[in-house]
Amino acid sequence: MDEAPAVGELSPPDRTLMGPGPSDVHPRVLKAMSTPLVGHLDPSFIEIMDEVQDLLRYTFRTDNKWTIPVSGTGSAAMEAAIGNVVEPGDTMLVPTNGYFGDRMASMAERAGGEVVTVDAPWGQPLDPAAVEAAFDEHSPDVFGFVHAETSTGVLQPSVPELTDIAHANDALVIADSVTSLGGVELRVDEWGIDVAYSGPQKCLSCPPGASPLTLNDDAMDKVLSRESEARSWYLDISLLEGYWGDERAYHHTAPITNVYALREALRLVAEEGIEERWDRHLRVAGALKAGVEGMGLEMNAPDDFWLPSLNTVRVPDGVDDGAVIQHLLDEYDLEIASGLGALEGDIWRIGCMGHSARRQNVSYLLAALGNALGEQGAVVDVDAGLAAMSERF
Ligand SMILES: Cc1ncc(COP(=O)(O)O)c(C=O)c1O
Repeated sequence: MDEAPAVGELSPPDRTLMGPGPSDVHPRVLKAMSTPLVGHLDPSFIEIMDEVQDLLRYTFRTDNKWTIPVSGTGSAAMEAAIGNVVEPGDTMLVPTNGYFGDRMASMAERAGGEVVTVDAPWGQPLDPAAVEAAFDEHSPDVFGFVHAETSTGVLQPSVPELTDIAHANDALVIADSVTSLGGVELRVDEWGIDVAYSGPQKCLSCPPGASPLTLNDDAMDKVLSRESEARSWYLDISLLEGYWGDERAYHHTAPITNVYALREALRLVAEEGIEERWDRHLRVAGALKAGVEGMGLEMNAPDDFWLPSLNTVRVPDGVDDGAVIQHLLDEYDLEIASGLGALEGDIWRIGCMGHSARRQNVSYLLAALGNALGEQGAVVDVDAGLAAMSERF
């Protein structure tokens, strides 16, 4: 290319983010991202690393020493977890009740593991009895489950029951907490979770780029006594330990700005209080759900397993789901998302996460959605929806 491209100043639209992530980023996090860099081995950065690790432990509700932000998106933390804990020849049990169980399976296979499944329909959580039966049949070494399934809007209940089954069978448990960390009750230590990974762009309201991961001593013992090296050099936890552990030695250049951002996002969690934050998500998303149902729409997830951070709403008959999404984007600068995988075309996915979990976002969403559905000729009662929402608040 001879001529310099005529690219103008960066000016993306000013969206309200109510999809499955990213969520609206808190202004304090954006401000932290404009802080000048220091080197990734600068003594001041090492102090910042300690602070981020402490804040992550608080948010995960864990005392695990091995608690770090992995450079990359949630899938990087996911692959660090699975690719290190699963060794060639291991068997990993994964769920089939959503999109992200399939991703766990792909990663376990690439790590050289054999994959077996525990089944539940999309839109339902795992039944502990089915998990127990799968353990009896396959004796897996590792069990993975998705705490908050972003594709179906289902929250996995009875986590301690699942981890008890795994531990009674000498297996390690890996929990996907990408859509729950910082928004939905999650207690890593108390619930017996050995490894949990997450993403920053959901309930932590931080841009993607540095993703939380925690491992307890049992999981770390397995990782550090592997017979073969982890297949990924970049995500090898035994090497990352050199940087995030006591040594603080170079492995790769940490994404400093993303670590700044995560620190501020986690500081906001600590200021609010983790339990108060879970309560806020319940309260605000409860009003969103009441509003959607008050308008005459139907939620996809059963009430008992409803996931406050990700609300799945059934597309009414005769309505074009994509046209509604486009209308919200064009007319309201408002993002929601379509269904994924088996639920594509059947549902919308409406996030209520972190800084987006605010009353003003919910009333804006309900009014805009009502308008978009009206354009499609659907009969919905927006006033009743807004009244139901207000009542819940
Ligand atoms: C449950 C779950 N797991 C894993 C991921 C992967 O995270 P990322 O897209 O940040 O790589 C996502 C992303 O939406 C998710 O919702």
